[in-house]
Amino acid sequence: MRLDRLLALLGEGTRSQVRGAVRDGRVTVNGAVAHDAGMRVDAAASRVCMDGRELSYRRVRHVMMNKPQGVLTAARDRLAQTVMDLLPPMYAAMGCMPAGRLDKDTEGLLILTSDGQLAHRLLSPRHEVGKVYFVRVDGPLDEEDQAAFAAGLHIHDSDGEFDARPAALEILASSPQESEASVRVIEGRYHQVKRMFGARGRRVLFLKRLQIGALKLDPALAPGQWREITEEEIRLLIQEETHG
Ligand code: URA
Repeated sequence: MRLDRLLALLGEGTRSQVRGAVRDGRVTVNGAVAHDAGMRVDAAASRVCMDGRELSYRRVRHVMMNKPQGVLTAARDRLAQTVMDLLPPMYAAMGCMPAGRLDKDTEGLLILTSDGQLAHRLLSPRHEVGKVYFVRVDGPLDEEDQAAFAAGLHIHDSDGEFDARPAALEILASSPQESEASVRVIEGRYHQVKRMFGARGRRVLFLKRLQIGALKLDPALAPGQWREITEEEIRLLIQEETHG
């Protein structure tokens, strides 16, 4: 493909910005300064650097995002902003997709990957990958709620009926007006956490996913920020959690 197209796909700027960078001698291909933004490069094999920084174009990419509120977990949407809009276009071009979804008003840890097997593993209830959420609700929480979560709640609401798998509820603060808790669930049905609290007469005011498997959301990522994740972190995703 053309060098300027590759640089734009890699998120280094618009076509005209990356052409400017080539004109200014900031881009090298296989060690030699590139003079022609239209030169052909092999995206998978050429070593392309900008300002001495090597740009990678690997086949499988995994991204950790702190999904902000107000953004849809979808590949694309005609009207609303999606999580894919927060990434350089290259990631969509490489087949990177959200693995699972968070509601529009939920924030926190979202994995996007072009590895379909990994996505399946994270989502399949058979693998029981735990997901930990921080939650704020509109009233008190107590030991009875904890026991009900641990026993497995029966959900019966306007979205349907199911028996939720046992979940661990840890109460962080409780008052008659508002409470905070963390909850660990091993399934991911539609509005799962909101419906579990709904079954206890509580409305979720704020929901944030903190952890998937043993992989925690990087606290350095503000809502809307993302970074690629390492192979070591991928292993954490699918390995058993260590508690504490
Ligand atoms: N449970 C919910 O209710 N919403 C989410 O976004 C995630 C889990």
